[in-house]
Amino acid sequence: MRIVLVGPPGAGKGTQATLLAKTLSIPHVSTGDLFRANISQGTELGLAAKSIMDSGKLVPDEVTIAMAKDRLEQSDADGGFLLDGFPRNVPQALALDEILEQRGIELDGVLDLEVPEDEVVRRIAGRRICRNEGNHVFHVEYNPPAEEGVCDVCGGELYQRSDDTEESVRVRLEVYHTQTEPIIEYYRKQGLVTTIPALGKVDEVTARAIEALRRNRDSDS
Ligand code: AP5
Repeated sequence: MRIVLVGPPGAGKGTQATLLAKTLSIPHVSTGDLFRANISQGTELGLAAKSIMDSGKLVPDEVTIAMAKDRLEQSDADGGFLLDGFPRNVPQALALDEILEQRGIELDGVLDLEVPEDEVVRRIAGRRICRNEGNHVFHVEYNPPAEEGVCDVCGGELYQRSDDTEESVRVRLEVYHTQTEPIIEYYRKQGLVTTIPALGKVDEVTARAIEALRRNRDSDS
């Protein structure tokens, strides 16, 4: 399956993508995680992206599209992928169409996670992630680690993302409404979008997502 996950910052895209990718046996491709990996490795790309990410704005399309294309060309994505955080504006959606068209493949669906803004702010404010592995994600209230500041999975140090500040979150939400929401409309016109409520426990949201993808697949066959 080739799926795009969309939703505001803090909606739970990364949390759900990790679980869904495991269930569907496809790689989870997160442009945010790819940028953060570049930052922690101190690459040129990471250095260029860091201040833009901290401000809450989008990294330029040219850089982002090249990075996403490169990742999607890796062999583990041949059998499908779950895109989290890409595309994030209409030019990126058009670029993704081109990448897929060149390979003679299409998207199977777009899963849109709907969460009220006050909940998004609560989720981001309490989020803690592991220094060893960005996909080990906790929340001080909703999913606290057994020992404060320590990752349950690998013992790594938990920290708060540098773009999870009040100012950056305000910009990220604004960017989401003005630049990312139009791609939902773009994909809706192609009959690809399923919107699911993403409030409730993590496993309840996962069950809704799996059900939505199953319905989507059955209606296509
Ligand atoms: P990115 O990393 O993609 O950030 P984002 O879209 O803002 O999304 P988040 O990672 O903040 O949230 P999420 O939806 O994954 O939520 P999570 O699962 O962690 O991008 C960061 C930056 O990189 C961008 O601002 C931009 O600068 C740059 N960038 C990335 N892609 C780009 C692109 N394509 N083009 C240009 N620039 C790009 O959950 C949040 C918290 O809630 C966690 O603590 C979690 O434990 C908790 N939680 C999750 N689900 C639940 C639940 N059901 N109940 C209670 N708590 C929950």
